[in-house]
Amino acid sequence: MCMTDQHYDAFPYPARDPADEAKRLVTGSPSHPHEIDTVLYGGARDWSQPFKVLVAGGGTGDGLVMLAQVLADAKAPYEITYLDQSKAAREIAEARIAKRRLKGVRFETGSLVDAADYGSFDYIDCCGVLHHLKDPVAGLKALERALNPGAGLGFMVYAPSGRSGVYPLQEAFNGLYGALPPEEKLEAAKKVMATLPEWHPFRRNALLSDQLRDPSGFYDLLLYAQDRAYRVDEWLAALGEAGLELTRWDAPALYDLGMITEVPEGMDPVVAIALCEKLRGTLGKYTGYAQRKGEVSAQVTVPSMGLVPHLDAPRHVLAKAVAAGKPLKMTTQGVTFRLKLPEEAAAIIGRIDGKTRLSEIVKASGLEPIGFQALWLKLHKALTATGSLRYSSLGRS
Ligand SMILES: C[S@@+](CC[C@H](N)C(=O)[O-])C[C@H]1O[C@@H](n2cnc3c(N)ncnc32)[C@H](O)[C@@H]1O
Repeated sequence: MCMTDQHYDAFPYPARDPADEAKRLVTGSPSHPHEIDTVLYGGARDWSQPFKVLVAGGGTGDGLVMLAQVLADAKAPYEITYLDQSKAAREIAEARIAKRRLKGVRFETGSLVDAADYGSFDYIDCCGVLHHLKDPVAGLKALERALNPGAGLGFMVYAPSGRSGVYPLQEAFNGLYGALPPEEKLEAAKKVMATLPEWHPFRRNALLSDQLRDPSGFYDLLLYAQDRAYRVDEWLAALGEAGLELTRWDAPALYDLGMITEVPEGMDPVVAIALCEKLRGTLGKYTGYAQRKGEVSAQVTVPSMGLVPHLDAPRHVLAKAVAAGKPLKMTTQGVTFRLKLPEEAAAIIGRIDGKTRLSEIVKASGLEPIGFQALWLKLHKALTATGSLRYSSLGRS
């Protein structure tokens, strides 16, 4: 058994107590069905058709539970295969699914490099896993082989800027304590952490300190024997090597150089993204969706009035701020975007309840259809850029 296996068996990550399923649903990106629908299906997926999903490196089950619960609530037919090489992580994920009495999930213990042996899928979630593989591109290629035509991969991989201070510590701890069993390694590293000087880059990195609170977070962040971060251009190249192409980032504004400064004419788009990452300086991960080259879904630019919009933020709070003429503050990965929307957009935002179509919101708002569409386009652009607006008729027949 390699160190990677030992670690996730000793400290399944993230730490989760199945009893908490009675209190809350953990949601996030990628893999919320509304986001999948928006990015891969233009918000128009027919959810009466079965949805076949692979959760590759499912860990303690956050992505799995979110997918199964949201689809079950909407009475959408689904089949989800959970795959992880850690038995301890699988036990927690299984207990969470059992606690919620969710059906339609098959649990497998194994490596994602054999993904295609488990079937072919409409969607694959692979979150926080590929950067731990000896050969991440081989992992990506294995996932590519398991995608149905037109299907999508939701990914999260580590980025270097937001992880400043992490890698020198990982190297030192693995150099010193790499041969120890996981529990002893953790204890030894914790003692050293208490001696870090105030100006150590890790101690200045406020975006990561939360992860040290529990042992599995500590281990995952600082003691993993195999962990690499990609620069954004390296990650795009890795996708390309596996025959994949980026469909969309979860929050495209994070990667948009044009939001920081004027982009020189003719600049290669990948160079522009790479420079944007350097200027942002805080990105610790990339989250987004990819598809096979030549199969990438077009993104919604002018939303049709039949779409059902969803907000990934409390609508009444947003509507109140817009009505008061205040900019909406959206913070992601240490970057705060201030979105200034016209005050008349407040009445529209207040009606985005995840059930009502745009055509119905027009009627209820009393606005002229042409004026509404112009206003909606502004909203669509601003909120899509920060990943806060999604389209899906899931749960609405
Ligand atoms: C950081 S956890 C992420 C878990 C989950 N995807 C999430 O986002 O909460 C990484 C998981 O990947 C699993 N893993 C690592 N390498 C793997 C491989 N080659 N095949 C399958 N699972 C793997 C580990 O056992 C661990 O549970």
